[in-house]
Amino acid sequence: MSRPLHFLTLADFSVPQIKRLLTQSSQLKRASEPWLLPQGTLAGKRANSLRLPSQSLFNKTVALLFSKRSTRTRVAAETGASLLGGRALFLGSEDIQLGVNESVRDSARVIGGMCQGIFARVGDHSEVEELAKYSPVPVVNALSSLWHPTQILADLLTLHEHAHLFSPLKPDAKPEKKKGVLELSELRPLTIAYVGDSANVLHDMLVTFPRLGHQMRVATPADPKYRAPQAVWDRVVELDCEKSIWWGEDPKEAVKGADVVITDTWISMGQEAEAAQRYKDFEGYQVTEELCREGGANPDWKFMHCLPRKKNEVDDEVFYGPRSLVFPEADNRKWTIMAVFDLIIGKWDLEADGQPRWQKDKL
Ligand code: CP
Ligand code: NVA
Repeated sequence: MSRPLHFLTLADFSVPQIKRLLTQSSQLKRASEPWLLPQGTLAGKRANSLRLPSQSLFNKTVALLFSKRSTRTRVAAETGASLLGGRALFLGSEDIQLGVNESVRDSARVIGGMCQGIFARVGDHSEVEELAKYSPVPVVNALSSLWHPTQILADLLTLHEHAHLFSPLKPDAKPEKKKGVLELSELRPLTIAYVGDSANVLHDMLVTFPRLGHQMRVATPADPKYRAPQAVWDRVVELDCEKSIWWGEDPKEAVKGADVVITDTWISMGQEAEAAQRYKDFEGYQVTEELCREGGANPDWKFMHCLPRKKNEVDDEVFYGPRSLVFPEADNRKWTIMAVFDLIIGKWDLEADGQPRWQKDKL
């Protein structure tokens, strides 16, 4: 059997592959829609159109190898795997031998010998690379020190679903609708501001949004430790994304002309000892109406955050206000993770010629 395709960062995927994952997410969301309806509304025409989403995980198990806490990613993976007809097996760091009595290499081979995919949330990115090196089945990054690719798929799906909220460039431009065919609404090129720490979530944005035609404006504190690590910047340059990224230290400058303003926690999991210094360094970085008004954001700007959120990063007025897309964004973790499980874990080994169906160069 051929080697599986792993998914460690969106930098490894082409634009058509990213769009394919988004379309699949949207289709799975639609196919699963009857389950989302309130009790009693599944009647008449709706009942006749009841469909199952792809059952590509039937009789298959995805190991959730999580060495860090999670709400969204875990719930999305567990509920998504069951909708695809399979099972997610949660293996927290307290449950298994990994990291105490057993190496990453041996764990990858053993877990991959019994499960059909590994969804791994790790500390250092090298751990998920090591898993991928030795796993006989696909490994998907559920968050590492460097990247958080499934989060950015959910962010993109959310932006496409809310494309109508962004004033079109041409007054007569309308979201594309094709009868009977599920198409993502066309999204005009956006200016996306990120105000906060250069961490895993931002890194996958940097290698993805510019390739989809969006401009990025980023503000991080002056200390070079808040800039993207060289390994990330190398991928930004390799993918020719650098020219679409403005980077400075002033959050007000960063939100200039922004259609979307995004932030993340200032203290990522594992950085708790640096909390006091970080709160000091991020003074003035809280996303507020005032910051965006003074900075000259597009008056219709929208707010996004991967969650979990703390008040220091964004105040309640913005977070719970009409600009906020944070909860649809969280819901979309499920459909995008389902698409990843479906295409990369469920279907990768189904071709009769032994080639993975989901191939890097065959989309
Ligand atoms: N956004 C995100 O990854 O959330 P969790 O840490 O709760 O999975
Ligand atoms: N940057 C955050 C993302 C959490 C989803 C962290 O790594 O903790």
